[in-house]
Amino acid sequence: MTNGNENRWLPLARVADLSEGINAAAVDGVELVIVKKGEGLSVFAGRCLHQEAPMAQGILEENHLVCSKHLWKYSLETGELEGEPGITLQKFECCQTDQDLEIRMDQFNELKALYTSFDEDDDDGVYVP
Ligand code: FES
Repeated sequence: MTNGNENRWLPLARVADLSEGINAAAVDGVELVIVKKGEGLSVFAGRCLHQEAPMAQGILEENHLVCSKHLWKYSLETGELEGEPGITLQKFECCQTDQDLEIRMDQFNELKALYTSFDEDDDDGVYVP
């Protein structure tokens, strides 16, 4: 059964504006990171699963996005934490149009709901680290 959102895409960035390496992005106050490696583009949740450090300040290794705070290493392919198969930094399914990079709307809404739940006292309803 579907909820009708699976095929909706959310524009995230203009491809031409992205730099090689780690790019910070945000939609509705939700932080994301876009990793550009050559022609490859990947999008991840913008906060580390350990203590919510900004992944935009992370380090790019050959096959990992590494949090700069305590060096947790997430697979660029899957988002999985190295050595901890059950722990995964959310990776988004992407769609690239002629100009734009888009992510799946339903995945974004899931992350936004998760981040919002971290701080229920936050009066603007968005994640605040
Ligand atoms: S906050 Fe990212 S490894 Fe600790």
